[in-house]
Amino acid sequence: MRLAHFSDIHVTHFPLTGSFTMKRLAAVASYSLAGRGRHFVGSDERIARLLEDVDSLGVDHALCTGDLTGVSTVGEFKRVAQLFGPRLDQPQRFTVIPGNHDRYVREAAGRFEQHFAKLCEGARFPFAKALPGGVTLVGLDVARPSSVIDSSGLAGKEQLGRVQEILTDASLKERFVVVALHYGLLRAEGQRDRRSHGLRDDLELMALVDREDVTVDLVVHGHMHRPYVVPTKRRQTINAGSATDLHVKGCGYHVYDLDPRAFKVRIERREWDAARGRYAARADSPLNREFPTR
Ligand SMILES: [Fe+2]
Repeated sequence: MRLAHFSDIHVTHFPLTGSFTMKRLAAVASYSLAGRGRHFVGSDERIARLLEDVDSLGVDHALCTGDLTGVSTVGEFKRVAQLFGPRLDQPQRFTVIPGNHDRYVREAAGRFEQHFAKLCEGARFPFAKALPGGVTLVGLDVARPSSVIDSSGLAGKEQLGRVQEILTDASLKERFVVVALHYGLLRAEGQRDRRSHGLRDDLELMALVDREDVTVDLVVHGHMHRPYVVPTKRRQTINAGSATDLHVKGCGYHVYDLDPRAFKVRIERREWDAARGRYAARADSPLNREFPTR
């Protein structure tokens, strides 16, 4: 079973629209002074090529782990929805979950759902979605609007309780189970993320996926724009990084070859080739590897 995984594609327009808040002002500073605008300049084009690349590979399913937009404006959502086009009506081929930039401010509530609800089981989180070939995708929503100095996420007690119910269900034992969320459980070196940037209840979620009585083969995410693979006590977590951030050398995405009988995965890295204007396999990527998941 082949699963494409991309993240943090960030359609990015100049952020001074909507109501004037401190957070919008900070977004303008980040866009103009901190270089965010430059990192994502022309991201529309890369997103179009990325989706074409995914289609051309004929994968069984494609997953996006959030941050479709820069600051959740109506215009950014419209644009990214336009780039997805007919794929928005193909939940059998695509799954999309939200990131913190898609819930950037309170006034943006409902904008993600307006376009992407079909691709995340009606936006009822957490969900368990049966994919072809014996794979089950468990999707979480851990993004929320936050203050100007805070980009942390939260799974929340209620969601964690329902994730526990899903992952301890005996019917999953024979399935290959991929847990998807925007935030990582750990940073690249295996340390916890900062309080103002990571998942507030990271320890609770990590303890849950590491329990012996739950079925989890992989945890996949984005949020940190440089890709990496890092283990928790008992599981492997994979960050696809940003597919379009030009500040990241070799921005790109992953294709996973999942073996739901032998419980194995092989990672293939594909990267943006600016000279050719397309994504292509990077054969010598240190991320390419194969390992058992149980
Ligand atoms: Fe991001």
